[in-house]
Amino acid sequence: MIEEEMDFENRIVSPEYNYADEDTEISLRPKTLDEYIGQDKAKENLSIYIKAAKMRNECLDHCLLYGPPGLGKTTLSGIIAREMGVNFRVTSGPAIEKQGDLVAILTSLNEGDVLFIDEIHRLPRNVEEILYPAMEDFSLDIMLGKGPSARSIRLDVPHFTLVGATTRSGQLTAPLRDRFGVLLRLELYTPEQLAQIVKRSAGILGIEIDNDGAREIASRSRGTPRIANRLLKRVRDIAQVEFDGAITEQVAQKALERFEIDELGLDDFDRRMLETIINNYGGGPVGLDTLSAAVGEESVTIEDVYEPYLMQIGFLTRTLRGRCVTKLAYEHLGIAQNTAQQSLDL
Ligand code: ADE
Repeated sequence: MIEEEMDFENRIVSPEYNYADEDTEISLRPKTLDEYIGQDKAKENLSIYIKAAKMRNECLDHCLLYGPPGLGKTTLSGIIAREMGVNFRVTSGPAIEKQGDLVAILTSLNEGDVLFIDEIHRLPRNVEEILYPAMEDFSLDIMLGKGPSARSIRLDVPHFTLVGATTRSGQLTAPLRDRFGVLLRLELYTPEQLAQIVKRSAGILGIEIDNDGAREIASRSRGTPRIANRLLKRVRDIAQVEFDGAITEQVAQKALERFEIDELGLDDFDRRMLETIINNYGGGPVGLDTLSAAVGEESVTIEDVYEPYLMQIGFLTRTLRGRCVTKLAYEHLGIAQNTAQQSLDL
């Protein structure tokens, strides 16, 4: 059993937003659909819906963006607002505590605005109920008073587009999910797309980098632009202090080795999790909650943050009976697979 807990906040390959990302994340954000690299399917659909809504002089339908953290849900929402030519208002599920908070936001919107609610699955239930008529009829049903003298009044709000973001659409209640006209799933990026993003970001930040250097950072960024941009900044520091400032394949390799991020972007926690499944549970299957207790990390974090990438690279599979480590992962970790496991393979 592993007892010490990983400091998740400080994990350099965490896809979660970190305040240290703030200064560059904003300047690196693409502002138009054309500038936005990757997510071709989502982009193509969005561009059609935006054009159609503009031709009809209407708001865009409410959109739900879902997928692992760090893939650009906020960025894409900002682009939607810009392409529609309207204001962009940003809030998040946990920030809206009371019905009154949401009423204040909705009544202060201008006609056509985009309201972005990040982590929308974390809206309190009674706040969510205010959202239903607002999304459907652009009206609010507000209860005044309590008990027998309570009465409700109906208030109109401007037409607006709600863009909700969540890591998994399954976390949403059915009534909320059903009120979104457009569902867009964001996928992990390919190393080629991430290399383009790294080159674009390096151009904006004035960092000298060649194609191989960009590819090296891209292939260790777990399919996630936020991680790619963070690694780019850290590799730049090492390139400046220990080399001549330019990022080449060799400089990137040296720097990433120092951060203990291996050639596939796995860090200490990923390796520990895979090794725990191998050493304690014969390679799996092991249930999510058992695994969570064994590695000292919450089940939702394992599911939303660690697993998507390990599954994308084919190191982990989800079966009905639990998680299993694959032959590829054994090979990567340099651990021999016994014959009983091989016959199960995976
Ligand atoms: N920076 C972060 N995400 C990006 C994307 N998808 N395209 C371009 N630049 C980005």
